[in-house]
Amino acid sequence: MAYKSNSFFILSVVFFLCLSWSTNTGEARQPFACDPQNPLTKSLKFCSASLPIQKRVDDLIGRLTLEEKIKLLVDNATAVPRLGIQSYEWWSEALHGVSNVGPGTNFGGDFPGATSFPQVITTAASFNESLWEQIGQVVSDEARAMYNGGAAGLTYWSPNVNVLRDPRWGRCQETPGEDPFLSAKYAARYVMGLQGNAEGDRLKVAACCKHYTAYDLDNWNGIDRYHFNARVSKQDLEETYNVPFKGCVGEGKVASVMCSYNQVNGKPTCADPDLLKNTIRGEWQLNGYIVSDCDSVDVLYKYQNYTRTPQEAAAVSIKAGLDLDCGVFLSDHTEEAVKAGLVSENDLNNALVNTISVQMRLGMFDGEPSAHPFGNLGPKDVCTKDHQQLALEAARQGIVLLKNRRKTLPLSRRQKTVAVIGPNSNVTDTMIGNYAGVPCGYITPLQGIQKYSQTIHQPGCTNVACNDDQQFELAEAAARQADATVLVMGLDLSIEAESRDRTGLLLPGDQQELVYRVSRASKGPTILVLMSGGPIDVSFAKKDKHIDAILWVGYPGQAGGAAIADVLFGTTNPGGKLPMTWYPESYLAKVPMTNMQMRANPKRGYPGRTYRFYKGPVVFPFGYGLSFTTFDTKLVQAPSQLSLPISATLTDSTTLSTTYALSLTHTNCNSLSLPLHIDVKNNGTVDGTHTLLVFSTPPAGTWSANKHLVGFQKVHVAVGSVQRVTVDVDVCKHLSVVDKSGVRTIPLGEHQIHIGGDGVGDLKHSISLHAGSTNIKS
Ligand SMILES: *[C@@H]1O[C@H](CO)[C@@H](O)[C@H](O)[C@H]1NC(C)=O
Ligand SMILES: *[C@@H]1O[C@H](CO)[C@@H](O)[C@H](O)[C@H]1NC(C)=O
Ligand SMILES: *[C@@H]1O[C@H](CO)[C@@H](O)[C@H](O)[C@H]1NC(C)=O
Ligand SMILES: *[C@@H]1O[C@H](CO)[C@@H](O)[C@H](O)[C@H]1NC(C)=O
Ligand SMILES: *[C@@H]1O[C@H](CO)[C@@H](O)[C@H](O)[C@H]1NC(C)=O
Repeated sequence: MAYKSNSFFILSVVFFLCLSWSTNTGEARQPFACDPQNPLTKSLKFCSASLPIQKRVDDLIGRLTLEEKIKLLVDNATAVPRLGIQSYEWWSEALHGVSNVGPGTNFGGDFPGATSFPQVITTAASFNESLWEQIGQVVSDEARAMYNGGAAGLTYWSPNVNVLRDPRWGRCQETPGEDPFLSAKYAARYVMGLQGNAEGDRLKVAACCKHYTAYDLDNWNGIDRYHFNARVSKQDLEETYNVPFKGCVGEGKVASVMCSYNQVNGKPTCADPDLLKNTIRGEWQLNGYIVSDCDSVDVLYKYQNYTRTPQEAAAVSIKAGLDLDCGVFLSDHTEEAVKAGLVSENDLNNALVNTISVQMRLGMFDGEPSAHPFGNLGPKDVCTKDHQQLALEAARQGIVLLKNRRKTLPLSRRQKTVAVIGPNSNVTDTMIGNYAGVPCGYITPLQGIQKYSQTIHQPGCTNVACNDDQQFELAEAAARQADATVLVMGLDLSIEAESRDRTGLLLPGDQQELVYRVSRASKGPTILVLMSGGPIDVSFAKKDKHIDAILWVGYPGQAGGAAIADVLFGTTNPGGKLPMTWYPESYLAKVPMTNMQMRANPKRGYPGRTYRFYKGPVVFPFGYGLSFTTFDTKLVQAPSQLSLPISATLTDSTTLSTTYALSLTHTNCNSLSLPLHIDVKNNGTVDGTHTLLVFSTPPAGTWSANKHLVGFQKVHVAVGSVQRVTVDVDVCKHLSVVDKSGVRTIPLGEHQIHIGGDGVGDLKHSISLHAGSTNIKS
């Protein structure tokens, strides 16, 4: 998201400065509303915390004038002094730590920094659900603390859960990767951590899943997200693009969804009643508000010419189900729209019910913030030792070992001197990627390695663009002297970022040449460490016997350098797995970034996208990741048949013998699970963690008969010991498939289960699903 209007941007900057002077002192924040010191409060029913929220909201809306209502439809919501309500900035961000993107958050004073966790793509690579939730808990502690001190809001427009469809996307780093099931799990767990799973529907902070939907193109080949019309089939929408959002709303109970800039099938998402009203609110039952991406309503009017007048743009969005505008458009144009009869005051009331209910659930109308259950959090609760330790732990868990020739890693302390080379070898803010805040501090890769050995440092290139070879000889000389060489290469925000998609997948500039030359000069083993959000085609390094080991570290957060060193020297045994396919550069020529189709189309030479549909050569596959130890897995128990309870409607109208798939409405399989019991033995030489990836391939039909992820479980296993792991596959949700018309059905017959994924020690199991007898008395 980004404000495009310059005047607005300048205003925001001024606004920032004022806030950091006046309110960033860590003193208790003034109550947002219902101040007990205000004599009015007692007489205002909406201030009565003991009443049901619905009643309080209705009371408040009943008191507001049309003009006041309109000024509450935007992120910079205006105060209503006559009702004791202050202004509120809705826009704060917390993608991987409280962020300074968005005018709602201000660092400085008592809040000089906040814990900066690894970028999401790295955290996703841990495949550790409890870690995701724990990070959310820590981030929301810090967010509440900053709110209490007047330095942040309570509404966070994170996480970004768009499926990573194209490896060029500049925002790959922000997402949990390419698998919809994994993204949905990540979304749900991170949101649960942030929102606090409190009793009733109380919220610790309000999260937001974005950008709904089919958005993963920023700026490619002259086409940008503001003008892009994503043509998406019903099948791909239900099977891929909407899955993380549905999981976020259904399982995560998120308090908000953000619609995107792009159009889907000719309609701007923020003005499509089918996507908003019918799907998010109707079908998925969102309990919360729908917000636009920043200036999207302006964009659909000005750039997409979707409506003739700005008043029509305001009306069509609100009527589609938009509740809040990030920007000023709705505050500028809604009054005229109401007066022209394009949208009714009642439509506005519906929007306000959704936003104000969230503020009530956050406790913003309960008077003194200090009386709130999180009211005692303050500066002492930000950047604590424990929080920073979790940031380090998350980085360790997210690092993926891609190559380890002849067990080069871990390095031993006998390797006294290490040459540390490369444009990312001593970076700080590169490690936190985008949508970051101000971290508590950094440990760079060089600093991390210095804890274990002596170092000779040479950047090799001035920056990641690596446009010349002037410093190559110095780098080679360093490698010649040292006992081991670590090259820290890759990308940063100058190559991949919001509004900046990549044009290629290779290492930028002369980086590859630097790696090649240094590896030849190196006296000891050469280890390549890659920092990036998106995948990099490092086929050369994979094959090259002078490059002994490769690590992908994503953007590993404030403590990233310490985690890298811990893996290099074996204090940590890496257990991360790639959450996305690493394609070869040649893949790009066959897939225009504008083609949203997931499935391959061999007739047109279209190879398809992600491990679920693309069957061509890869550099590294989805789910790939090595360990310093080895694991032996055994399936100890799993049913080979399951019977799906049939509902009365089907037995009435359809002959079962001719049915090869059951629609979800015809079976009562809601709590039906397929339990898999697996023994994992660590048969290697060091303790380690293993991630079991469970895939399923449905019987052939009009859906795709490709494998897709249906479960995963991470387990720590000490050397020589065995751990029993149970993975429960939800039959309805995850063994179902989506047909061409976008309808989910459960194929009957043999489903193949694969446990493993990267080919080594894979387990296979087949499960037969058949239609059981009706369990509904008729
Ligand atoms: C927010 O709204 C107030 C009142 O309408 C206005 O004075 C202020 O300039 C706005 N701030 C920004 C950043 O637009
Ligand atoms: C929208 O209208 C403007 C002004 O008439 C025009 O320049 C622009 O090309 C149009 N854009 C689209 C996407 O049709
Ligand atoms: C490495 O980066 C740190 C943090 O920015 C800096 O203090 C230090 O001087 C750098 N070291 C070298 C050798 O450049
Ligand atoms: C450990 O188990 C794996 C998978 O079955 C097997 O390939 C490997 O040879 C075993 N290693 C040892 C040391 O027994
Ligand atoms: C998952 O992460 C949590 C939090 O860091 C950690 O305690 C746990 O050991 C991790 N699980 C595994 C199997 O590594």
